[in-house]
Amino acid sequence: MPPLKTVQDYIRTIVDFPHDGILFRDVTTLFADPRGFRMAIDQMLHPYAGQPIDKVAGLEARGFILGGAIAHQLSVGFVPIRKKGKLPGAVISEEYQLEYGEAVVELHDDAIQPGERVLLVDDLLATGGTAAAGIRLIERLGGIITGCAFVVDLPDLGGHKRLTDMGMDVHTLCA
Ligand code: PRP
Ligand code: ADE
Repeated sequence: MPPLKTVQDYIRTIVDFPHDGILFRDVTTLFADPRGFRMAIDQMLHPYAGQPIDKVAGLEARGFILGGAIAHQLSVGFVPIRKKGKLPGAVISEEYQLEYGEAVVELHDDAIQPGERVLLVDDLLATGGTAAAGIRLIERLGGIITGCAFVVDLPDLGGHKRLTDMGMDVHTLCA
């Protein structure tokens, strides 16, 4: 019998995407596989079993896919943290630096009520710039971050340390 596949086994690396020198971790192959996708969702939730969570916040774009499934599993609401100019209502904004560029993320200003406990979700943690901006948005609305859950960690880029230094509970499934 072949050995059971891990979450990491379902993720492929695309060389030089979207720019030369970037090893892009492509999770679409994980999402496309029913066993892989379920395994990822179950493993992302595992550390938070029994913990009260009121909302899941997902970072655009792949954090929407994971966060939607996690919110459904928890029977809680999902709120999207989107790139600038995509949300239709009144927003708050935060600028951040990427591994390859600069950007702004936004959150509807009524998406989270003060005191709500929020699980932040994305596919990948690199420099941590995107997640840190998401954390600032949630905290500006008075949300309390229960934890930050990712599939892939690129620890050499410093994001894991950056978020734990901010006092965050960070869980990732593979490097
Ligand atoms: C990727 C990834 C994370 C972010 C991580 O998204 O999905 O959101 O980069 O990088 P960081 O830890 O250095 O901030 P990307 O910015 O490529 O946007 P996309 O999901 O809209 O393609
Ligand atoms: N976001 C930032 N760096 C990335 C990488 N190496 N692969 C996928 N998404 C990323």
